[in-house]
Amino acid sequence: MATCHVALAASVLAICMVLTRATNPGFVARITVKGLDYARQEGIAALQKELAKLKLPDFSGSFKVKVLGKVHYTFYSLNLRSFQLPSSQIAPIPNVGLKVSIDKAFAQLTGKWRVKKRFLWLYNLFHKKIESSFRRTMEGKVCGAVTSSVTTKLQPYLQTLPVTARIDKVAGIDYSLAAPPVATAQSLDVNLKGEFFSLAHRSAVPFVPPTLAFPVDHDRMVYFAASSYFFNTGGFVYHTAGVLLFEITDAMIPKEFKFHLNTSTFSAFIPQLEKMYPDKLMKLRIKTSSAPFLTIAPGNLSLTPVFDIQAYVILPNSSLVPVFLLSVTSSVSAKIMVTSARIGGTLELGRLQLSLKHSDVGPFSVQLLQALMNFYGSSILIPHINARLREGFPLPLPARVQLSNLVIQPRQNFLLFGADVRYM
Ligand SMILES: *[C@@H]1O[C@H](CO)[C@@H](O)[C@H](O)[C@H]1NC(C)=O
Ligand SMILES: *[C@@H]1O[C@H](CO)[C@@H](O)[C@H](O)[C@H]1NC(C)=O
Ligand SMILES: *[C@@H]1O[C@H](CO)[C@@H](O)[C@H](O)[C@H]1NC(C)=O
Repeated sequence: MATCHVALAASVLAICMVLTRATNPGFVARITVKGLDYARQEGIAALQKELAKLKLPDFSGSFKVKVLGKVHYTFYSLNLRSFQLPSSQIAPIPNVGLKVSIDKAFAQLTGKWRVKKRFLWLYNLFHKKIESSFRRTMEGKVCGAVTSSVTTKLQPYLQTLPVTARIDKVAGIDYSLAAPPVATAQSLDVNLKGEFFSLAHRSAVPFVPPTLAFPVDHDRMVYFAASSYFFNTGGFVYHTAGVLLFEITDAMIPKEFKFHLNTSTFSAFIPQLEKMYPDKLMKLRIKTSSAPFLTIAPGNLSLTPVFDIQAYVILPNSSLVPVFLLSVTSSVSAKIMVTSARIGGTLELGRLQLSLKHSDVGPFSVQLLQALMNFYGSSILIPHINARLREGFPLPLPARVQLSNLVIQPRQNFLLFGADVRYM
């Protein structure tokens, strides 16, 4: 019955995002035509429900008839019984944004009408005039309802996109726009800052985001590119906050393990330690000495963190006595996992390379400690870190959207992942 067009510029998508300097994005969200089509279906279904609830007030009008003069009519007890929007489109318009068009709307309604002059047998002659007036009125109401649904429902919904996502006591992620969204014939790309920041004290990051060569891949509804910059700002913020700090105590070592954390275990490698502190428990404090830096290449995610291991002997009154300090590097390979709404990962530790930075118990050979430290690193430290990484970090998704059918590929400087979307 009614026909209307709603034009929607990409600025609607940008409504809640503050535009700052244009720069390479740390995170890109791409919505493909397939994704837009899904959004259209979901949107139309919601709109149909909304329109079915539309209350139609009584309305009246008049028209002139030769000889008889003005004829007044009134429609009343109008009841919308169903609503269909069978042909609608959401399409990206290059360099412009999105166009939403709803070309046809079919409504079924029941109601009563009356005409004010008593010429009942002439009704059929007025039929055309009344119908066209009725149609115009309905078009106005339906288009008004569609436009107001788009502005009152879609815009607040898009505002549920997290612009900054708080993660924990230390950091948040800034998902604000890095540049205006870019529409091509196949997709809409939303370039986000994708940067971790300290909640206590936001400071500039000492490196810049690399350019990302987003591949032309369109069989999923959405694609995301998480730049190495995204992960490395995370490493930088947590390192700078001094929280990349882990302690290994004997209590963390499973009973059945051979190497308990005490001076007699170390007597084979540092005999003087056992002589100075016989039968004492020890503690290792592990701390990054520079921010860990993730390198992403095709098929490969790796990092080479540098950290310090400070060893302590624990005295009976719980005082800690520092005994030696090691500097350690290792190659670490990373796996990234994406679940329905979060991105997480796991690490696998390679062989540790140790050097002695300081000893309070005289010289000893760090090479002998290699196997022991590898054991503590891969059996105690890494599972502990992985437990945290597996919890992951929130992705920039609007409310009630979940990802499924995921594909993940490391590319040069970024991690690409594609997914289909389900609106719950
Ligand atoms: C020290 O560790 C060894 C195993 O590495 C264990 O046999 C011994 O009981 C431990 N000593 C103390 C005091 O915990
Ligand atoms: C992955 O990258 C690291 C560091 O760049 C490199 O040492 C390693 O050989 C690479 N592995 C593969 C399988 O390409
Ligand atoms: C703990 O014991 C050591 C050695 O007996 C002593 O030097 C130190 O002052 C004690 N520390 C505390 C806090 O009592």
